[in-house]
Amino acid sequence: EADRKKISIGFSQSVGDDIWRTSMNHAMEVESSLHPEVNLRIYNANRQPKKQIRDIEKFIEDKVDVIIVSPFESDSIVPVIEKAKAKGIPVIIVDRKVNTSNYTAYLGADNIEVGRLAGKHLVSISKGYANVIQIYGDLNTSPGLERSLGFKQIIKQYPGIKVFDIDSDDFGHPKTNYIKLLDSLSNIDYVYAFNDLIAYNAWKIAKDKGLDKKIKFIGVDGLNGPFGGIQYVKDKILEATVLYPTGGSEAIRLALKIVNQEIVPKNNKLNTILIDSLNADIMSNQFDKIAIQQADIEQQQNIIKNQEKKYSTQSNLLKLLISL
Ligand code: FRU
Repeated sequence: EADRKKISIGFSQSVGDDIWRTSMNHAMEVESSLHPEVNLRIYNANRQPKKQIRDIEKFIEDKVDVIIVSPFESDSIVPVIEKAKAKGIPVIIVDRKVNTSNYTAYLGADNIEVGRLAGKHLVSISKGYANVIQIYGDLNTSPGLERSLGFKQIIKQYPGIKVFDIDSDDFGHPKTNYIKLLDSLSNIDYVYAFNDLIAYNAWKIAKDKGLDKKIKFIGVDGLNGPFGGIQYVKDKILEATVLYPTGGSEAIRLALKIVNQEIVPKNNKLNTILIDSLNADIMSNQFDKIAIQQADIEQQQNIIKNQEKKYSTQSNLLKLLISL
Protein backbone atom coordinates (compact mmCIF):
# COMPACT_ATOMS: atom_id res chain seq x y z
CA GLU A 1 0.00 0.00 0.00
CA ALA A 2 1.22 3.47 -0.83
CA ASP A 3 0.27 4.80 2.60
CA ARG A 4 2.18 2.11 4.50
CA LYS A 5 3.76 3.67 7.59
CA LYS A 6 7.30 4.91 6.96
CA ILE A 7 10.06 4.06 9.42
CA SER A 8 12.80 6.65 9.65
CA ILE A 9 16.27 5.49 10.66
CA GLY A 10 19.11 7.94 11.25
CA PHE A 11 22.63 6.59 11.03
CA SER A 12 25.56 8.60 12.37
CA GLN A 13 28.80 7.37 10.79
CA SER A 14 32.07 8.42 12.42
CA VAL A 15 34.97 7.88 10.02
CA GLY A 16 33.85 8.42 6.48
CA ASP A 17 36.69 7.73 4.17
CA ASP A 18 37.85 4.11 4.31
CA ILE A 19 36.34 1.07 2.63
CA TRP A 20 35.27 -0.59 5.86
CA ARG A 21 33.07 2.45 6.58
CA THR A 22 31.73 2.83 3.05
CA SER A 23 30.99 -0.86 3.01
CA MET A 24 29.06 -0.51 6.30
CA ASN A 25 27.04 2.37 4.82
CA HIS A 26 26.44 0.36 1.68
CA ALA A 27 25.24 -2.68 3.64
CA MET A 28 22.76 -0.43 5.48
CA GLU A 29 21.51 1.06 2.22
CA VAL A 30 21.07 -2.37 0.63
CA GLU A 31 19.26 -3.78 3.67
CA SER A 32 17.03 -0.68 3.83
CA SER A 33 16.11 -1.00 0.17
CA LEU A 34 14.81 -4.50 0.94
CA HIS A 35 12.29 -2.92 3.32
CA PRO A 36 10.35 -0.32 1.32
CA GLU A 37 8.91 1.21 4.50
CA VAL A 38 12.40 2.22 5.69
CA ASN A 39 13.69 5.71 5.13
CA LEU A 40 17.43 5.69 5.96
CA ARG A 41 19.43 8.88 6.38
CA ILE A 42 23.21 8.69 6.83
CA TYR A 43 25.24 11.57 8.29
CA ASN A 44 28.99 11.44 8.17
CA ALA A 45 30.97 13.06 10.99
CA ASN A 46 34.28 12.78 9.10
CA ARG A 47 36.25 12.08 12.31
CA GLN A 48 34.93 15.21 14.02
CA PRO A 49 33.43 14.38 17.43
CA LYS A 50 31.54 17.70 17.55
CA LYS A 51 30.02 17.09 14.13
CA GLN A 52 28.91 13.63 15.25
CA ILE A 53 27.15 15.16 18.27
CA ARG A 54 25.42 17.72 16.02
CA ASP A 55 24.36 14.98 13.62
CA ILE A 56 22.75 12.99 16.42
CA GLU A 57 21.10 16.20 17.76
CA LYS A 58 19.53 16.67 14.33
CA PHE A 59 18.14 13.13 14.35
CA ILE A 60 16.63 13.82 17.78
CA GLU A 61 15.07 17.09 16.54
CA ASP A 62 13.64 15.32 13.51
CA LYS A 63 12.17 12.64 15.79
CA VAL A 64 13.47 9.70 13.78
CA ASP A 65 12.21 6.28 14.90
CA VAL A 66 15.66 4.81 15.64
CA ILE A 67 19.19 6.22 15.78
CA ILE A 68 22.15 4.00 14.85
CA VAL A 69 25.54 5.33 15.94
CA SER A 70 29.01 4.16 15.00
CA PRO A 71 30.92 6.22 17.58
CA PHE A 72 34.13 8.07 16.89
CA GLU A 73 34.90 8.81 20.55
CA SER A 74 33.57 6.84 23.48
CA ASP A 75 33.20 9.72 25.98
CA SER A 76 32.19 12.96 24.26
CA ILE A 77 29.22 11.25 22.69
CA VAL A 78 27.65 10.00 25.96
CA PRO A 79 25.40 13.02 26.76
CA VAL A 80 23.75 13.14 23.33
CA ILE A 81 23.11 9.37 23.39
CA GLU A 82 21.51 9.72 26.81
CA LYS A 83 19.46 12.65 25.53
CA ALA A 84 18.08 10.55 22.66
CA LYS A 85 17.15 7.78 25.06
CA ALA A 86 15.51 10.28 27.42
CA LYS A 87 13.41 11.54 24.51
CA GLY A 88 12.27 7.98 23.90
CA ILE A 89 14.31 7.35 20.75
CA PRO A 90 15.98 3.91 20.73
CA VAL A 91 19.73 4.00 20.09
CA ILE A 92 21.80 1.19 18.54
CA ILE A 93 25.59 1.38 18.94
CA VAL A 94 27.79 -0.40 16.39
CA ASP A 95 31.53 -1.19 16.40
CA ARG A 96 33.26 1.10 18.95
CA LYS A 97 31.85 1.07 22.46
CA VAL A 98 30.55 4.05 24.47
CA ASN A 99 31.12 4.80 28.13
CA THR A 100 27.50 4.54 29.19
CA SER A 101 25.04 1.67 29.35
CA ASN A 102 22.20 4.02 28.54
CA TYR A 103 21.51 2.78 25.00
CA THR A 104 19.11 0.21 23.58
CA ALA A 105 21.46 -2.28 21.96
CA TYR A 106 25.08 -2.80 20.99
CA LEU A 107 26.16 -4.65 17.84
CA GLY A 108 29.66 -5.77 16.93
CA ALA A 109 32.23 -8.55 16.90
CA ASP A 110 34.41 -9.27 19.92
CA ASN A 111 37.73 -7.52 19.37
CA ILE A 112 39.49 -9.47 22.12
CA GLU A 113 38.62 -12.59 20.15
CA VAL A 114 39.91 -10.87 16.98
CA GLY A 115 43.27 -10.27 18.68
CA ARG A 116 43.38 -13.83 20.03
CA LEU A 117 42.66 -15.33 16.60
CA ALA A 118 45.51 -13.32 15.09
CA GLY A 119 47.78 -14.40 17.97
CA LYS A 120 46.84 -18.09 17.73
CA HIS A 121 47.42 -18.12 13.99
CA LEU A 122 50.81 -16.51 14.42
CA VAL A 123 51.76 -19.05 17.10
CA SER A 124 50.68 -21.94 14.92
CA ILE A 125 52.52 -20.88 11.76
CA SER A 126 55.67 -19.74 13.60
CA LYS A 127 55.71 -22.73 16.00
CA GLY A 128 56.26 -20.25 18.80
CA TYR A 129 59.45 -18.58 17.58
CA ALA A 130 59.23 -15.24 15.75
CA ASN A 131 60.02 -11.53 15.67
CA VAL A 132 56.82 -9.59 15.16
CA ILE A 133 55.97 -5.96 14.48
CA GLN A 134 52.57 -5.01 15.86
CA ILE A 135 51.16 -1.92 14.16
CA TYR A 136 48.48 -0.29 16.26
CA GLY A 137 45.42 1.52 15.07
CA ASP A 138 43.99 3.99 17.56
CA LEU A 139 44.55 2.63 21.08
CA ASN A 140 42.02 5.13 22.43
CA THR A 141 39.21 3.20 20.77
CA SER A 142 37.77 -0.05 22.12
CA PRO A 143 38.61 -2.07 18.98
CA GLY A 144 42.21 -0.82 19.05
CA LEU A 145 42.69 -1.57 22.72
CA GLU A 146 40.94 -4.93 22.63
CA ARG A 147 42.75 -6.15 19.51
CA SER A 148 46.04 -5.54 21.30
CA LEU A 149 44.84 -7.14 24.57
CA GLY A 150 43.62 -10.33 22.90
CA PHE A 151 46.83 -10.64 20.90
CA LYS A 152 48.95 -10.14 24.02
CA GLN A 153 46.98 -12.74 26.00
CA ILE A 154 48.07 -15.40 23.52
CA ILE A 155 51.56 -14.21 22.66
CA LYS A 156 52.72 -13.79 26.26
CA GLN A 157 52.49 -17.58 26.68
CA TYR A 158 55.28 -17.98 24.11
CA PRO A 159 58.59 -16.49 25.25
CA GLY A 160 60.08 -17.29 21.83
CA ILE A 161 57.90 -14.62 20.23
CA LYS A 162 59.19 -11.06 20.48
CA VAL A 163 56.88 -8.16 19.66
CA PHE A 164 57.88 -4.60 18.59
CA ASP A 165 55.16 -1.96 18.74
CA ILE A 166 54.61 0.71 16.09
CA ASP A 167 51.83 3.30 15.71
CA SER A 168 49.94 4.20 12.57
CA ASP A 169 48.43 7.52 11.54
CA ASP A 170 44.69 8.23 11.10
CA PHE A 171 44.77 7.12 7.49
CA GLY A 172 46.25 3.66 7.89
CA HIS A 173 49.94 4.41 7.32
CA PRO A 174 52.56 2.98 9.69
CA LYS A 175 54.58 5.79 11.34
CA THR A 176 58.14 6.32 10.07
CA ASN A 177 59.72 4.30 12.88
CA TYR A 178 58.33 1.24 11.06
CA ILE A 179 60.80 1.89 8.26
CA LYS A 180 63.59 2.40 10.81
CA LEU A 181 62.73 -0.90 12.45
CA LEU A 182 62.77 -2.74 9.12
CA ASP A 183 66.14 -1.17 8.34
CA SER A 184 67.73 -1.88 11.70
CA LEU A 185 66.45 -5.41 12.35
CA SER A 186 67.08 -7.92 9.64
CA ASN A 187 65.07 -10.70 11.23
CA ILE A 188 61.44 -9.54 11.27
CA ASP A 189 59.17 -12.49 10.41
CA TYR A 190 55.65 -11.14 10.85
CA VAL A 191 53.61 -7.96 10.91
CA TYR A 192 50.30 -7.93 12.77
CA ALA A 193 48.38 -4.78 11.84
CA PHE A 194 45.09 -3.63 13.34
CA ASN A 195 43.33 -3.51 10.00
CA ASP A 196 43.91 -4.67 6.44
CA LEU A 197 44.56 -1.16 5.19
CA ILE A 198 47.48 -0.71 7.62
CA ALA A 199 48.67 -4.25 6.79
CA TYR A 200 48.55 -3.45 3.07
CA ASN A 201 50.47 -0.19 3.49
CA ALA A 202 53.06 -1.95 5.66
CA TRP A 203 53.39 -4.66 2.98
CA LYS A 204 53.95 -2.02 0.28
CA ILE A 205 56.78 -0.44 2.26
CA ALA A 206 58.35 -3.86 2.84
CA LYS A 207 57.96 -4.70 -0.86
CA ASP A 208 59.89 -1.56 -1.84
CA LYS A 209 62.70 -2.86 0.36
CA GLY A 210 62.50 -6.34 -1.16
CA LEU A 211 61.28 -7.78 2.16
CA ASP A 212 57.78 -8.80 1.09
CA LYS A 213 58.67 -12.48 0.64
CA LYS A 214 60.47 -12.67 3.98
CA ILE A 215 57.78 -11.09 6.14
CA LYS A 216 54.23 -12.41 6.52
CA PHE A 217 51.43 -9.91 7.10
CA ILE A 218 48.29 -10.43 9.18
CA GLY A 219 45.46 -7.90 9.10
CA VAL A 220 41.92 -7.42 10.38
CA ASP A 221 38.55 -6.68 8.68
CA GLY A 222 38.43 -9.28 5.85
CA LEU A 223 36.20 -7.28 3.53
CA ASN A 224 35.05 -8.91 0.33
CA GLY A 225 35.74 -7.21 -3.02
CA PRO A 226 38.70 -5.84 -4.98
CA PHE A 227 40.48 -3.87 -2.21
CA GLY A 228 39.33 -6.02 0.68
CA GLY A 229 41.40 -8.27 2.92
CA ILE A 230 40.03 -11.48 1.40
CA GLN A 231 41.39 -10.47 -2.00
CA TYR A 232 44.73 -9.56 -0.40
CA VAL A 233 44.88 -13.06 1.08
CA LYS A 234 44.09 -14.57 -2.33
CA ASP A 235 46.80 -12.37 -3.89
CA LYS A 236 49.26 -13.56 -1.21
CA ILE A 237 49.81 -9.99 -0.03
CA LEU A 238 48.42 -10.98 3.36
CA GLU A 239 49.13 -14.31 5.05
CA ALA A 240 45.81 -13.97 6.88
CA THR A 241 43.12 -11.56 7.99
CA VAL A 242 40.58 -11.74 10.80
CA LEU A 243 37.00 -11.09 9.76
CA TYR A 244 35.51 -8.03 11.47
CA PRO A 245 32.01 -7.68 10.00
CA THR A 246 30.69 -4.13 9.63
CA GLY A 247 27.25 -5.11 10.93
CA GLY A 248 25.54 -2.78 8.45
CA SER A 249 22.65 -5.05 7.47
CA GLU A 250 22.30 -6.49 10.98
CA ALA A 251 21.96 -2.95 12.40
CA ILE A 252 19.02 -2.19 10.09
CA ARG A 253 17.34 -5.51 10.92
CA LEU A 254 17.84 -4.83 14.63
CA ALA A 255 16.37 -1.34 14.20
CA LEU A 256 13.26 -2.81 12.58
CA LYS A 257 12.80 -5.31 15.39
CA ILE A 258 13.02 -2.51 17.92
CA VAL A 259 10.49 -0.35 16.03
CA ASN A 260 8.18 -3.37 15.91
CA GLN A 261 8.37 -3.59 19.70
CA GLU A 262 10.24 -6.90 19.71
CA ILE A 263 12.47 -7.53 22.67
CA VAL A 264 16.12 -7.60 21.51
CA PRO A 265 19.28 -8.58 23.40
CA LYS A 266 21.29 -5.65 24.67
CA ASN A 267 24.53 -7.14 23.36
CA ASN A 268 24.42 -8.51 19.81
CA LYS A 269 27.61 -10.32 18.91
CA LEU A 270 28.76 -10.65 15.31
CA ASN A 271 30.91 -13.64 14.43
CA THR A 272 34.56 -13.46 13.58
CA ILE A 273 36.81 -16.03 11.89
CA LEU A 274 40.39 -16.27 10.69
CA ILE A 275 40.70 -16.13 6.91
CA ASP A 276 43.83 -17.54 5.25
CA SER A 277 44.61 -19.24 1.94
CA LEU A 278 42.65 -22.34 3.04
CA ASN A 279 39.24 -20.64 3.26
CA ALA A 280 39.59 -17.33 1.37
CA ASP A 281 37.81 -18.69 -1.72
CA ILE A 282 34.95 -20.19 0.26
CA MET A 283 34.50 -16.94 2.18
CA SER A 284 34.40 -14.72 -0.89
CA ASN A 285 32.03 -17.13 -2.68
CA GLN A 286 29.67 -17.01 0.28
CA PHE A 287 29.75 -13.21 0.42
CA ASP A 288 29.22 -13.00 -3.35
CA LYS A 289 26.20 -15.32 -3.07
CA ILE A 290 24.63 -13.16 -0.38
CA ALA A 291 25.16 -10.07 -2.54
CA ILE A 292 23.46 -11.78 -5.51
CA GLN A 293 20.51 -12.85 -3.36
CA GLN A 294 20.15 -9.31 -2.04
CA ALA A 295 20.17 -7.93 -5.58
CA ASP A 296 17.42 -10.43 -6.50
CA ILE A 297 15.26 -9.35 -3.58
CA GLU A 298 15.88 -5.71 -4.45
CA GLN A 299 14.70 -6.34 -8.00
CA GLN A 300 11.56 -8.09 -6.74
CA GLN A 301 10.84 -5.17 -4.43
CA ASN A 302 11.06 -2.81 -7.39
CA ILE A 303 8.63 -4.94 -9.39
CA ILE A 304 6.17 -4.90 -6.49
CA LYS A 305 6.57 -1.13 -6.14
CA ASN A 306 5.81 -0.63 -9.84
CA GLN A 307 2.77 -2.89 -9.63
CA GLU A 308 1.52 -0.96 -6.63
CA LYS A 309 1.90 2.24 -8.64
CA LYS A 310 0.00 0.76 -11.60
CA TYR A 311 -2.70 -0.54 -9.29
CA SER A 312 -3.18 2.81 -7.64
CA THR A 313 -3.47 4.66 -10.99
CA GLN A 314 -5.94 2.02 -12.19
CA SER A 315 -8.04 2.25 -9.07
CA ASN A 316 -8.01 6.05 -9.26
CA LEU A 317 -9.22 5.77 -12.82
CA LEU A 318 -11.94 3.38 -11.75
CA LYS A 319 -13.04 5.74 -8.98
CA LEU A 320 -13.19 8.56 -11.52
CA LEU A 321 -15.29 6.49 -13.91
CA ILE A 322 -17.72 5.50 -11.16
CA SER A 323 -18.12 9.10 -10.06
CA LEU A 324 -19.09 10.20 -13.56
C1 FRU B 1 37.66 1.61 9.83
C2 FRU B 1 38.21 0.86 10.97
C3 FRU B 1 38.25 -0.62 10.66
C4 FRU B 1 38.21 -1.20 12.02
C5 FRU B 1 37.22 -0.30 12.72
C6 FRU B 1 37.41 -0.20 14.16
O1 FRU B 1 37.48 2.95 10.11
O2 FRU B 1 39.47 1.33 11.33
O3 FRU B 1 39.35 -0.99 9.91
O4 FRU B 1 37.94 -2.53 12.03
O5 FRU B 1 37.36 0.96 12.10
O6 FRU B 1 36.73 0.89 14.73
